[in-house]
Amino acid sequence: MKKKISVIGAGNVGATTAQLIVQSGIADVVLFDIVEGMPQGKALDMAEACPLWNSAATIRGTNRYADTTGSDLVVVTAGLARKPGMSRSDLLHANVDIVRGACMEIAKHSPNSIVIIVTNPMDVMAQLAWKTTEFSCRRVMGMGGILDASRLAAFLAWELHISPEDIEAVVLGGHGDDMLPLPRFTTVKGIPLTEILPKKKIDSLIERTRNGGAEIVSFLKSGSAYYAPAASTFQMVKSILLDEKRVLPCAAFLNGEYGIKDIYMGVPVILGEKGVEKIVEVKLTKEEKAQFRKSSATVKKLVEKLSI
Ligand code: NAI
Ligand code: 2OP
Repeated sequence: MKKKISVIGAGNVGATTAQLIVQSGIADVVLFDIVEGMPQGKALDMAEACPLWNSAATIRGTNRYADTTGSDLVVVTAGLARKPGMSRSDLLHANVDIVRGACMEIAKHSPNSIVIIVTNPMDVMAQLAWKTTEFSCRRVMGMGGILDASRLAAFLAWELHISPEDIEAVVLGGHGDDMLPLPRFTTVKGIPLTEILPKKKIDSLIERTRNGGAEIVSFLKSGSAYYAPAASTFQMVKSILLDEKRVLPCAAFLNGEYGIKDIYMGVPVILGEKGVEKIVEVKLTKEEKAQFRKSSATVKKLVEKLSI
């Protein structure tokens, strides 16, 4: 029997993530939203595309959590997206009730599931999800670092006129304005970026990466990025579902790793069928450590504000 994945929130990121899963055929999908008819319509449309995608996966749209029962994996994308001028943190108050409510339903209907949080501010929402579900922290994680790293890789590929396939970009820290792109560990076919581009150029591409989400919001006017976010989420889904044990930057609960305790932060993890199977610690320089601490302090402040 195929595994069951529920996607909570059938908006741009949720529906596109559902599409990638169904198209790949690796799991059956339940697409949930509070808007009546919308997830049903999108799911029907995708189901009708399955013959063209040569996919035997099923997809069902719903407004009832009962239909998500027994999910192996749940992706939470429910909530408001950014508008121009809004930071990810501005979404905090609007999204906290939505994510808490969704997580209570997940704990009730899919107590053995693994949960991936996408809703922003993602690191804080991952912490909220962990607290609300009371699941092991290995089974609750957030998507952010893969997206930030993919953006940096795209910008580098354009700058160097090479295939993005040969770029391994590394971005740690929170999925916010003080994320921590690491040029020292970013390589082109194994060659450190710092040996390929001058510092000034690297700094400008890092700045563009930090603003990557806002750059898209400013074009779209209403709503934020979703193709790259959905593709990033799908990488996590696939690594867990197929037990690929990929090393991917995800928001994971830190219990002393990187000198940080009791907070979700973006770090490289091994993702497999059990969820976050291991946190990979890389040695940071003094400056990188300071930046990582700054990033974690931002998340901690929001977590404390919510008394999570
Ligand atoms: P969207 O507005 O297209 O979709 C959100 C959906 O959530 C809507 O369909 C809405 O009806 C639904 N929703 C609202 N309340 C709900 C509830 N209580 N239960 C279930 N569904 C509910 O937004 P989009 O673009 O899909 O983004 C979703 C979230 O993901 C936003 O918070 C956004 O900031 C975040 N995001 C995070 C990224 C990351 O890297 N972590 C990347 C991209 C987006
Ligand atoms: C992004 O980085 C909004 O977090 C979202 O595009």
